[in-house]
Amino acid sequence: MTNKTYTEVIDEIRNRLDILDVVQSRVVLKKRGTNYWGCCPFHNEKTPSFCVSPQKGIFKCFGCGEGGDAISFLMKINNQSFNDVIKDLAQQFGIELPSFNSDSKKYGDEKQKIKDILEKACKYYHNNLLTLDEAKPALEYLQKRGITKEIIDEYQLGYSKKGYTELISHFKSDYTPDIIEKAGLTVKTEKSENIDRFRHRIMIPIRDESSNVIAFGARAIEANQNPKYLNSPDTVLYNKSRILYGIDTAKKQIMADDYVVIMEGYFDVISSQAAGLKNAVASCGTALTVDHIKLIAKYSKNRRIYLAFDTDSAGLKATQRSSDVIKEAFRGLGNIKIFDQTYSSLNDDKYTCEIRVIAPFDSKDPDEYIREYGIEQYKNYIKKAPLLLDFELNQALKDYNSDFSPTDKLKLVKKIMPLIEEIPNNIVQNEYIKLVSDKINIDESALIREVNRSKMFQTIESKPIERIVTKSSNNSEKAQKNLLSLFFTSGTDIDLNNLIEVIKNVKFTNKNLIIIKEAIDKLLYRVNNNVDELIQSLYTQFAEDNELKDIITDLIYIADSFKNLSERDFKAAIRDNVNSIQKYHFNCEKDEIAAKYKQLNDDDIESMQYQMQLREKIKNKHKVGE
Ligand code: CTP
Ligand code: MN
Repeated sequence: MTNKTYTEVIDEIRNRLDILDVVQSRVVLKKRGTNYWGCCPFHNEKTPSFCVSPQKGIFKCFGCGEGGDAISFLMKINNQSFNDVIKDLAQQFGIELPSFNSDSKKYGDEKQKIKDILEKACKYYHNNLLTLDEAKPALEYLQKRGITKEIIDEYQLGYSKKGYTELISHFKSDYTPDIIEKAGLTVKTEKSENIDRFRHRIMIPIRDESSNVIAFGARAIEANQNPKYLNSPDTVLYNKSRILYGIDTAKKQIMADDYVVIMEGYFDVISSQAAGLKNAVASCGTALTVDHIKLIAKYSKNRRIYLAFDTDSAGLKATQRSSDVIKEAFRGLGNIKIFDQTYSSLNDDKYTCEIRVIAPFDSKDPDEYIREYGIEQYKNYIKKAPLLLDFELNQALKDYNSDFSPTDKLKLVKKIMPLIEEIPNNIVQNEYIKLVSDKINIDESALIREVNRSKMFQTIESKPIERIVTKSSNNSEKAQKNLLSLFFTSGTDIDLNNLIEVIKNVKFTNKNLIIIKEAIDKLLYRVNNNVDELIQSLYTQFAEDNELKDIITDLIYIADSFKNLSERDFKAAIRDNVNSIQKYHFNCEKDEIAAKYKQLNDDDIESMQYQMQLREKIKNKHKVGE
């Protein structure tokens, strides 16, 4: 057991955490200046108002107000408690936690047990495949597919036995039926009995980014065995709409080559990776999701995505659906490169993402293609892979032949129009119109008219990144916020301890700001005038309080406007804001007094007293902060 304190461990975890890394697995981000922007995962939006500041180590949504540090982000996005997030991170970083009792421990233990059993199940299946007579057909099948012993070992392919309770009996002495079920390895029969989920199948372990086994894909061996693929259900470790098969072995190469190839099946990925095309991944029996794209956007800097789906009609639909998903993932973040830009002056690095399609001529899937023609030839296809729009146009135009009637042509034009309309540049658009009208032998100007007409019906969607200012409050509250934000200001030589002395006696009215002010007062002696440490301690202290965390994040952002002030300007900022607060209190009192004397006439004696009180107040007001 570690002899570190819980706080020390949290500090260590905080230091290892990178906010960009954490957020980017769930949000597609684009750099602007020193900050990164994206669409907020906590509310529905199409224009990015979600901002990550790697320097400050925090995120903030200017739309919905959510904000915090990396740990708060994980808490919010995974709906976990602070302790659970710490527990997971400690595990991830291999940091030992001091023991403490709570529910999260039980939950964490369960996760760990499920991880253990999946790892062991992987070894068990693998061993089955290599040693059992019963597994011979599986081994032969794999050999027939060109899967060598080396590949079997590298990808830890396995075999699940025919019997109904083989795995259950194998694990019965070490794990409860409950855990085995939660790992997704068993199913319940109608009679509520547990049986092995995977029987007589080739087992393909699915791993997360850190190479932990989190699920299995299982392929049938016999021709009449249904379904062809059976997958683990979602569990506490596995969410199929968020994980891509092969990501653990692909991520390094995706970073190095700056592109990823998305394929359809497990064996496409295995064959490609084994043949040396390492940056291939596949979704595990689901359609591609925005979360999948977020996962790979993290690794490819320029987000170059190659789609390598089949070119049969189902595959073409998948290509289209997937590119829609990609567009959705990058929505609002800038142009996506989907057409040949050699005509235009658009600069490459202005693109937020690039989509290309790999489509070998004889519509074999990557696995079959690579086996038949070799990886070098497949790589040639990658080199020549057309951009999405060019691919789609070619596909549509392929149907054309010279026997087309006017109605046939109209149908084809209808199919092509949306593609052409997607081109944001007029010159390039006209080039494409020329190309299409030539090819299908129609009047170019008629096609231009069609495009223009349809443009008129489209609503113009502008996508500037704008900062939506958070809820306005009264001037005094703004000033209270300003004063607190001064504690988070970098680039000044102000002693935080002096600052608190000045601000301590200013009367705050907002209850949350009062809490934060008091917390700062108490924490200051610990953090040794260090802004970053102060921020970290505050986030830890208010880890479970969303409202306060959002306010703290707000304050950190406000602090930007006081950055690098000279000492004189900094003092002026203090004075102005203290004055605003005093003025507010003064006005409140004035209103009170005025209400009291409302019924009296000017020449009343009491009214005279009131006038005097007022003058006194005004005099005091001007003294403050000097
Ligand atoms: N898939 C699935 N469930 C099925 C069929 C397919 O989950 N019943 C998923 C698997 O991830 C599979 C992918 O879809 O890898 C593609 O399946 P498919 O196109 O049917 O075949 P291939 O990948 O070509 O499979 P194989 O080469 O093994 O025949
Ligand atoms: Mn295949």
